[in-house]
Amino acid sequence: MVTRSWSSRSNRYLFLLIGILLSIAFSSPANSGTYLASAHGDPINGVNSTTLDLKYGDYAIGNCGHCHQMHASIDGAQPEPANGPAPHALFFNFFNPLRTQNLYFETDNFCFYCHGDTGQQVLNQDYSTTFGGAVSGSGPQSILSAFNLQSYHNLYDVWNFVSNTPAYAWFGSAGNPCSACHNPHLAKRTWSSIQPGFPLLSAISKPDGHNALWGENELMQSYLSYEAPYFKTSDLTREPAGVGDANGSNTPDYVSFCSSCHNTTNVIWSTTLNRELKKIDWGVVGLEQDKHGPSPRGSVSHFRDPYLSSEAGKSNFVLSCLDCHESHGSENIMLLRRRINGENLEGVVDALNTVTKGYVCKRCHQDDFAAIGGTADSWEYVHHNAPGAPYAQTQCTDCHVSELDTHIDCGNCHAHGLDDSWLGANATGLKTF
Ligand code: HEC
Ligand code: HEC
Ligand code: HEC
Ligand code: HEC
Ligand code: HEC
Ligand code: HEC
Ligand code: HEC
Ligand code: HEC
Repeated sequence: MVTRSWSSRSNRYLFLLIGILLSIAFSSPANSGTYLASAHGDPINGVNSTTLDLKYGDYAIGNCGHCHQMHASIDGAQPEPANGPAPHALFFNFFNPLRTQNLYFETDNFCFYCHGDTGQQVLNQDYSTTFGGAVSGSGPQSILSAFNLQSYHNLYDVWNFVSNTPAYAWFGSAGNPCSACHNPHLAKRTWSSIQPGFPLLSAISKPDGHNALWGENELMQSYLSYEAPYFKTSDLTREPAGVGDANGSNTPDYVSFCSSCHNTTNVIWSTTLNRELKKIDWGVVGLEQDKHGPSPRGSVSHFRDPYLSSEAGKSNFVLSCLDCHESHGSENIMLLRRRINGENLEGVVDALNTVTKGYVCKRCHQDDFAAIGGTADSWEYVHHNAPGAPYAQTQCTDCHVSELDTHIDCGNCHAHGLDDSWLGANATGLKTF
């Protein structure tokens, strides 16, 4: 029940809160101009919280008070979900570091309170849908549910990694893992076609550039041979979201973004995988170059479109990490997208690394069926028979378990940061992806 006195008392708290926050904010990222342009500060679609409004009735949409409270409480009581004092005067605890793996609950992260599935839901679909053309509703419908899929950016590991990296001193030990990639005062709504400028309204900030948005002016186009994948093969529109052009002038530079953490030097531990992650080399030099990065492609190239058609003009394609990966979570292993280059994958990619891993490759490369009308999901042609193929068919058991059991784990030779040591004496000197 909303009473007048409660309401005016809450107003006094609110003015105090805004005054204090704004006085800090003048020199901080939350200055009013950029905040009003942000998704959270938007006066129509911005932050709102039913719990507060049911109780006090007078918080404007977009108001800081939907996320910040002066004390841990308003009016002597915490709006639900109550959980004691929280850092940065937020209404709710930032992150529950005891949750070292998913499944996550709303109570594990401040942001899930709104970007979750119940109560005040913000609809957020995955990259495969929003920018890659999958049917709306076919994937996760919130950030929380994306993080609860088979593979995901483990929030405990992100929190741990960023907290312990000196370059990210701003983060502080009480930081929220989402803030490693987002600045809640700046992030814009990226997915609405009714907003002017779409899709170059950025939702992301680099961990080493938290006070600015990333990707509105930093574009994949700067890599001279970026080729935007199809959004829908049916009408040949391009990513992102069908409004991209071939050269990536509408695609944020996700390579630099992801490489802030995944590069050749950072040591990153994965609790989920129970090992250190492979280092990623998207640069031109290094022993373990990645052919999907600026390292030149090899001698056997049997692409599908749009790469096939533009192959002559672009001698060395550089791919964006999000051409293959999701940013939050996926039903597939390793955050792999469920739709790539304008078509859905044929099934879930599991950890066994064989047939299902090929589902990813065949969206852009030709399996035996696409190349010569042979067996679908077989890869004999490009490895053995095509012009420039790497392997002669001799001594089958050097590579295959037996002459009958022909399938080999693709991951032995194709993964980031791999050399060809698995082949031992049979190494051809070709570095694989
Ligand atoms: C969507 C929730 C949300 C809204 C709305 C919001 N903040 Fe924040 N604020 C945060 C989070 C989360 C942090 C912790 C630091 C970070 O993640 O950048 C924070 C931190 C701060 C800080 C500490 C300094 C800093 O940037 O780390 C100040 C000051 C601040 N906010 C002021 C404001 C003001 C003023 C407004 C309204 C104009 C506002 N905030 C609106 C979530 C929010
Ligand atoms: C490792 C970096 C990273 C982390 C950690 C991360 N995000 Fe994101 N997020 C991204 C990237 C990149 C995008 C833009 C591409 C996309 O939409 O997937 C994005 C997009 C979003 C969007 C817009 C999605 C849409 O509808 O288009 C929201 C909302 C969001 N993130 C919320 C969160 C929340 C909440 C968390 C923490 C639970 C979080 N993110 C953690 C990288 C990250
Ligand atoms: C009080 C509710 C609330 C909280 C808490 C909250 N958000 Fe949001 N968030 C929203 C709303 C509402 C939008 C705008 C949705 C729209 O434009 O339709 C939004 C939009 C966003 C966007 C822009 C992309 C989009 O979907 O429009 C990002 C990125 C984002 N939030 C990240 C975060 C992160 C990270 C946190 C935690 C630090 C957080 N949010 C906490 C309510 C919230
Ligand atoms: C703030 C640092 C940071 C950024 C930026 C970042 N990551 Fe990560 N990433 C991590 C950490 C920490 C882990 C280990 C936790 C884990 O395995 O989930 C990880 C794990 C992964 C994994 C393995 C997930 C698994 O199955 O366990 C993939 C794939 C990945 N990241 C891709 C990306 C992509 C693509 C981007 C750019 C959108 C990106 N990362 C940006 C920190 C980051
Ligand atoms: C052509 C598709 C493709 C592109 C582009 C791509 N990846 Fe991957 N990535 C994969 C596949 C497939 C795997 C799984 C490999 C495996 O497990 O055998 C993977 C695995 C990973 C892993 C987990 C590594 C580990 O320790 O096992 C990380 C981290 C990662 N990718 C990050 C990135 C980043 C960062 C970029 C951009 C600089 C990127 N990827 C670009 C396809 C791609
Ligand atoms: C014994 C190591 C090895 C294994 C195992 C392996 N490959 Fe390859 N693959 C190679 C080499 C070497 C090349 C040629 C690289 C080059 O030309 O740069 C190649 C090329 C490719 C290409 C590029 C073809 C083109 O024409 O564009 C694809 C796609 C591919 N492999 C997919 C797979 C798949 C799917 C699997 C698992 C079913 C697999 N590979 C297993 C070594 C291997
Ligand atoms: C989004 C499209 C895309 C996906 C998905 C993809 N690739 Fe590629 N791949 C390319 C492009 C484009 C090149 C050429 C890169 C260059 O020009 O340097 C390439 C190059 C390669 C090469 C170097 C040999 C060559 O063709 O000249 C290998 C090996 C390879 N890919 C293996 C794989 C494997 C294995 C997978 C599945 C795990 C895969 N690719 C998934 C687009 C893709
Ligand atoms: C130097 C390593 C190497 C040698 C030696 C080799 N192969 Fe392969 N073969 C491969 C790779 C790599 C692939 C692609 C991975 C896959 O398809 O599992 C492949 C694929 C095949 C396939 C298609 C399997 C499928 O369903 O995808 C057949 C059939 C095949 N090889 C037969 C042979 C025969 C028969 C011999 C001996 C006469 C032989 N290979 C020798 C590496 C080798």
